[in-house]
Amino acid sequence: MGEVLKIEYLKKYYGNSNNITKAVDDITFNIKEGEFVAIMGASGSGKTTLLNTQL
Ligand SMILES: Nc1ncnc2c1ncn2[C@@H]1O[C@H](COP(=O)(O)OP(=O)(O)O)[C@@H](O)[C@H]1O
Ligand SMILES: [Mg+2]
Repeated sequence: MGEVLKIEYLKKYYGNSNNITKAVDDITFNIKEGEFVAIMGASGSGKTTLLNTQL
């Protein structure tokens, strides 16, 4: 099946170089047509930041 989402090397950092939070730190994944995907992780691991990212 085809890929409906392809994420490569995505980063989202908050703050500045003196005080940086690497909320999403260089992630790569694909989602294929028909797949159901759950995003799991501890509080503060970047789930909401990932879902809010404007592609
Ligand atoms: N608007 C923001 N400004 C600064 N830091 C943020 C902001 N939103 C989230 N963070 C930080 O980014 C990290 C990931 O947060 P978040 O995406 O909310 O994780 P989750 O949804 O997995 O709990 C945490 O360290 C959080 O404190
Ligand atoms: Mg969240």
